[in-house]
Amino acid sequence: MSHRYTQIVHIDPQQPDPELLAQAATLLQAGKLVAFPTETVYGLGANALDTQAVAGIFEAKGRPTTDPLIVHLAELTQLERVACELPALAFTLAEQFWPGPLTLVVRRKPGVPALVSAGLDTIAVRIPAHRVARGLLIASDLPVAAPSANRFARPSPTSAAHVLADLDGRVDLIIDAGSSRIGLESTVLDLTRDEPVVLRPGGVSLEDLRTFIPELRFIPRYLDPSTASAAPGGMLRHYAPDTPLTLFTGERDAVLACMRAELESMQRLGQRAGLLLSEEDLTAFYDLSAITHSLGSEADQSSMATRLFAGLRELDQAGIDRILTRAVQQSGLGLAIWDRLLRAADGRVIQC
Ligand code: TXA
Ligand code: MG
Repeated sequence: MSHRYTQIVHIDPQQPDPELLAQAATLLQAGKLVAFPTETVYGLGANALDTQAVAGIFEAKGRPTTDPLIVHLAELTQLERVACELPALAFTLAEQFWPGPLTLVVRRKPGVPALVSAGLDTIAVRIPAHRVARGLLIASDLPVAAPSANRFARPSPTSAAHVLADLDGRVDLIIDAGSSRIGLESTVLDLTRDEPVVLRPGGVSLEDLRTFIPELRFIPRYLDPSTASAAPGGMLRHYAPDTPLTLFTGERDAVLACMRAELESMQRLGQRAGLLLSEEDLTAFYDLSAITHSLGSEADQSSMATRLFAGLRELDQAGIDRILTRAVQQSGLGLAIWDRLLRAADGRVIQC
């Protein structure tokens, strides 16, 4: 692992200084690694057309080269620089959801480094909405490959501090523009199969996509035994804190009773618990000792999404034995929240 000096620069998220963006763009053009904010999570960027630079991303993250990257574009007109054989649906969806948290998997254009796509003949692309991300993409005039800027399988970073915690000494620049607005990654939609399919739920809901693709389904790759290990990004354990996390599912009252029993038994064993729950759920445990991280009001899915990864990281730092959390409704953004919790739990699911 080659050591890099990691520089940090603060940029105004609303009115990014063009001078600073130009400097960051110069680094990308020189094949360097630049972590930058997007509206979903922070990305770890490199020139997608430079195989060496892309290899640096995999090395910095400790990511297996079997897991393909998302390429970020500034404008729709750049799509044909990296993709080909684009279906009409790609343009319909682009018009509706870009810039924004939707990633489309389409055919990779010959000549675009295969490493970006982990050797597949497809490529994942999106146009991010964050002003700093778009400003950087415009200034560099490059397609920028960028996975989430975390060490492999760790919770995605929603602040520059999270990026620094994982990647200090491994990237050349971190652009700090405050916290990510959405806090969960983009929805990954594969348009290269017979039927479009959601590979990862995210910032654009399945319901919103069904306006355009009525039969659209999310097929979790980690639950499909035929593809679980072979499919890119298909491993169940992901987004995971080091501290084991247990996910409780079922009716709310049953879950709260189950969790209480679990908390009491942990207390008897002298173990320390962390609770990652909505404000409403946390009030049920005011009499028990636990480290808590509130996900905000359960009625506000977007606040739960924004706080999720920060909560996983914070509780992971708290020196506790186990994190307990509850499954959310699988509608709207809830499907993406549920997916991340399930994967953070790595199969430790208790049906109450
Ligand atoms: O919101 C986001 O998508 C963030 C920001 C930085 O844009 N990026 C992100 O990238 O989450 P990453 O690498 O952490 O997740 C990319 C996902 C993985 O699940 C990967 O397997 C999938 O997209 N993916 C990428 N290219 C693919 C392809 N050609 N075919 C199928 N899946 C692909
Ligand atoms: Mg990731």
